[in-house]
Amino acid sequence: MTVPRHVAIVMDGNGRWAKARFLPRLMGHHRGVESARKVIRACSDAGVECLTLFAFSSENWKRPEDEVSGLMSLFVSALEREAAALQRHQVRMQFIGDRSAFSTELQDKIAQVEGMTAACGGMRLLIAANYGGRWDILQAAQTLAAQVVSGELALADMDEARFDAALSTGDVPTPDLFIRTGGERRISNFLMWQLAYAELYFTDTLWPEFDEASLQTAFADFARRQRRFGMTGDQVSGAKNA
Ligand code: IPE
Ligand code: IPE
Ligand code: MG
Repeated sequence: MTVPRHVAIVMDGNGRWAKARFLPRLMGHHRGVESARKVIRACSDAGVECLTLFAFSSENWKRPEDEVSGLMSLFVSALEREAAALQRHQVRMQFIGDRSAFSTELQDKIAQVEGMTAACGGMRLLIAANYGGRWDILQAAQTLAAQVVSGELALADMDEARFDAALSTGDVPTPDLFIRTGGERRISNFLMWQLAYAELYFTDTLWPEFDEASLQTAFADFARRQRRFGMTGDQVSGAKNA
């Protein structure tokens, strides 16, 4: 079975999972961390090269204050709890997004785990936190524009490959498989540029219930797809007279 090199997931449905059980939304987020832990392990075992998880969007600040602060404490405690295990499994964790908006405590924890796992040679794990796809495109444009202004880069050399490299995902392959749990069929400002040719997979399963079997179902679906990248089916399958 063809395993996707890079899997990108919008982990959605924590709130509804909790609501259906008359629990506070934060309980759903706690369960969501457990799902993330299982999926990280399963992807690493399956030989996925890179896993990107959407943990907090640049728009999620609009949520009630207690939910936002609860999520921030959850990020800190999850990092404290998981750092050693990630290192043991050789998972290299990095955060993408504008981390300057986070508390110094959270920023320090992020830097600590990134440092601890920097030399790990296994799966790359990107956590998108205070991330927005438009923000990413904008910051890449600013970086490249600054290089053009300083004379370091000729405008004519600003091509797709250079732009891609300036994105926060610059040193990983573009996502092959996009998964969104929780039933919504939208991107919600996730990896806007990077998803150009990703296979999209949507499931109604709420994130706290998404487990290794759900992941295998998504992988099996992915493996059945023919990725044509603009070519004909015959060209891709290598049929004669393509
Ligand atoms: C996704 O679950 C997690 C975050 C956005 C942090 P939601 O909290 O969006 O869950 P629903 O969509 O309300 O069910
Ligand atoms: C997207 O989910 C962000 C994360 C999963 C972190 P949302 O639940 O915030 O997306 P919308 O608001 O329904 O589009
Ligand atoms: Mg949601």
